[in-house]
Amino acid sequence: MQVNTQELIERFAKVFPGDSPRCVARAPGRVNLIGEHVDYNDGFVLPIAMSQALYVVAGPADDGHVTVNTTAFSESVRFPANDPGPPGSPMWGNYIRGVARMLLNRNVRIKPARLLIHSDVPVGGGVSSSAALEVGTAMALLTLAGQRLDPIPLALLARQAEHEYAHSPCGIMDQFICVLGKKDHALLLDCRSQEYEQLPLRFPETVLAVMNTQVKHEIGGSEYPVRQRQCQEGLAILKAGHPHIASLRDVTSEHLDTCEKRMDVVAFSRCRHVVTEIRRTQQAADALRLHDATQFGQLMTESHVSLRDDYAVSCPELDALVDLATGVPGCYGARMTGGGFGGCAIALIHRSAEQPLRDAITKEYDTRFKKPAIVYVTVPADGAFVHSL
Ligand code: GLA
Repeated sequence: MQVNTQELIERFAKVFPGDSPRCVARAPGRVNLIGEHVDYNDGFVLPIAMSQALYVVAGPADDGHVTVNTTAFSESVRFPANDPGPPGSPMWGNYIRGVARMLLNRNVRIKPARLLIHSDVPVGGGVSSSAALEVGTAMALLTLAGQRLDPIPLALLARQAEHEYAHSPCGIMDQFICVLGKKDHALLLDCRSQEYEQLPLRFPETVLAVMNTQVKHEIGGSEYPVRQRQCQEGLAILKAGHPHIASLRDVTSEHLDTCEKRMDVVAFSRCRHVVTEIRRTQQAADALRLHDATQFGQLMTESHVSLRDDYAVSCPELDALVDLATGVPGCYGARMTGGGFGGCAIALIHRSAEQPLRDAITKEYDTRFKKPAIVYVTVPADGAFVHSL
């Protein structure tokens, strides 16, 4: 799945005859190993940047506009360089307009430009193609303007674009891993302090399998703010009983127990997921430090059970993939990754288990759901970067 930058440059020349590209930005998708639905609760997350990425080939224009084409969609997006306008259609254009607006708000003088976007990151696959689009676009526009932003302000700007232009109230995980990813490392990110640690992902003889359900996680869009609200409802009751609590990060299982009777049963389960998931993520980081794949895998599977039963963000296809994977000898653990309701599951497996896992999925999943799950192996890659041509 290696993308040939030279081919993209040639493609740019065909799409925009007479214009020359000046830079190519590469922004990866992400796989979260553990720490799901906790970033907006001040928790810890442990994602990796994937080897699959989105590319933005960019060159200057002299017509006062930013014109964006993609290799995936036939429509293009075009707006005056000094006014990206409000969110509208097509949906993918909103990430670009949003980023342009946030850059202008920071007094970046966006130059008229031609952008060609190509992505290896499956769209709607729960591996954050949107953060890759935001970050890749921002880097390309900044480079054409002769400016740069440090990784964290860049990630925060990209997330702001997603909030305001895609109306998705996401946490900070996706944009942070997109800019901070490091080859062969996972990122332990404290979403409260924004401090982070790059931990080497060193489980000898293991690989990380990504299993795409081929179910687009669209419903997740509407359920996501509902989960946030349920967490806030639970938090309000916990705070009433324990005034020092600022967020679910400060909550222990004992606090939960003392407040259970006063809490709505749904809010209680949502909070229990968050509290236990934050703890699991810290334990998983320790397992990573000790190269203990068995412990890490077990925590992954426990995370899935919690997301399925307490947080209710899984779906039959994700559950089936996790059950299939954990039934294959040599699988240490498996879970859904990302927002849920479709998208991808991941499994930590001994490398000898790759073919048996593929066979089991073809036999069981593809027959049961009448569509093939796409399985591939990924390794932690570097975060986004841009190179000038
Ligand atoms: C989506 C959001 C992230 C995070 C995950 C769930 O990917 O964009 O901020 O909340 O869901 O962990």
